[in-house]
Amino acid sequence: MPDRSPARVEITGEGPVLIHGPVELVMPDGVRIRSERAVTALCTCRRSRRYPMCDTSHRRCARNRRKESE
Ligand code: FES
Repeated sequence: MPDRSPARVEITGEGPVLIHGPVELVMPDGVRIRSERAVTALCTCRRSRRYPMCDTSHRRCARNRRKESE
């Protein structure tokens, strides 16, 4: 019997969207990317070199924004 529990998706403040459990992503060109990781981090800042996966580049951007506002 398939697991009917809802997928858990966490929306973080300045970082990625975290999806708990296996996930299949469908890109605009139809390419499908499957992740079997316990948590998949999707980039929302568009600065990742591994887009659509987060590579933590958002941290550098957030740090720069904080410095600019100081
Ligand atoms: S959200 Fe982490 S690199 Fe974009």
